[in-house]
Formats: sequence, C-alpha cells, structure tokens
Amino acid sequence: MNIAELNAKSLENAKRLYASGEIEKIEIGTTSGLLAIHQYLFKELYPFAGEIRNQNIAKGNFRFANCLYLKEALAAIEKMPQGTFEEIIEKYVEMNVAHPFMEGNGRSMRIWLDQMLKKSLGKVVNWQNVPKEKYFSAMERSPVNDLEIRTLLEANLTKDAENREVIFKGLEQSYFYEE
Ligand SMILES: Nc1ncnc2c1ncn2[C@@H]1O[C@H](COP(=O)(O)OP(=O)(O)OP(=O)(O)O)[C@@H](O)[C@H]1O
Ligand SMILES: [Mg+2]
Repeated sequence: MNIAELNAKSLENAKRLYASGEIEKIEIGTTSGLLAIHQYLFKELYPFAGEIRNQNIAKGNFRFANCLYLKEALAAIEKMPQGTFEEIIEKYVEMNVAHPFMEGNGRSMRIWLDQMLKKSLGKVVNWQNVPKEKYFSAMERSPVNDLEIRTLLEANLTKDAENREVIFKGLEQSYFYEE
C-alpha cells in the first residue's frame, strides 16, 4: 500500500469514527482516549497503531519528548485542566510536545482537541477554514509561545459541533495537512 492509499483508508476510518458514534465512547482529554483515537484511525495501516513510540523523533529542529520520559510526561499532561479554551490549548500544545506516536500525531490530536472543546465549550474547530501554512507556523511556534495557535483556533471555533458537513470537511482538511 502506498502512502496516498494508506491516508485515504485512514480518512475513511476517521469519518467512520464519527458516523458510527464510536467517538462518543472515547475518553476525553486522557492518554488512553488519544491512544484509542490513534488505534481507530490507523489499525491495520501502521503496525504501531495505538502504541506509544519507543524511538526519539524530531520535526524541523524541534525534538519531541525523549521516549525514556514519555510515559511520565503523558501521565502529567492528562491531569492538566480542560475547563476553559486557554486551558485546552495549553493541554493540546503539551501533548504535541510529547508527540506520543511515530506518525499520525497531528491527525489524532486534532480529534482529541475537538473532543475537549466540544465537551467544555460546546464548540469545535472549523478546520476547513484553518489554512495549512498558518496552522503549521503556529504549531512550530507553540512550544515556545502558544499565542499564535490560540489566536488562530479561537478565530475558527464553531458552535456547529454536530454538523456532519463541518466535521467531514474538517477531517478532510486535517488529512490534507499531512500531504
Ligand atoms: N516544528 C514543529 N514543532 C512542533 N510541532 C510541530 C512541528 N511541525 C509540525 N508539528 C506538529 O506535528 C504534527 C505532525 O505530526 P505527525 O507527522 O506525527 O502527524 P501526522 O498526523 O502524521 O501529520 P499532520 O499533522 O501533518 O497531518 C503537525 O500537525 C503539527 O501539529
Ligand atoms: Mg505526519
């Protein structure tokens, strides 16, 4: 299977996660919830679906959490509060710094983020309106300062959290980030 086929199959899984209602059964804001999302998106596509990495990884010149300390980091992150928009963004940024998987972190974490936003605020990110370049530059900046990602996502929240079109177009955009 080539990468384009793999990503297309994973996008189908992501849509099925919502269409089947399985998303409602996934724990919100915890490590095991994130592992469950990753497993659902990538089962039979990546051998490490739903599994925490045991190698070190980097993007650009940023090294994500050392795998030796990853379990402890995840245990601390899941305890972070998720009551307000600011708290949820802080938690999301920390989880991105942890980057628990070898691949597929962004795609599973954007769903994990939306679950927290929906539960606490009744809103989700309208990802179809979040341009790839702006998102990536804000995420690259986020370990140092989360103002850029906070501002970008706050401007693109929607109350249409149950709208199938909003969710599916958002997933398509999230998968387009990866291409
Ligand atoms: N230089 C960076 N510093 C911090 N975080 C980054 C950096 N570059 C990318 N990211 C974050 O990491 C994610 C990519 O991680 P990974 O490749 O594991 O996920 P993916 O789902 O395969 O890809 P994508 O998120 O691009 O669709 C990006 O979506 C972004 O949120
Ligand atoms: Mg990737």
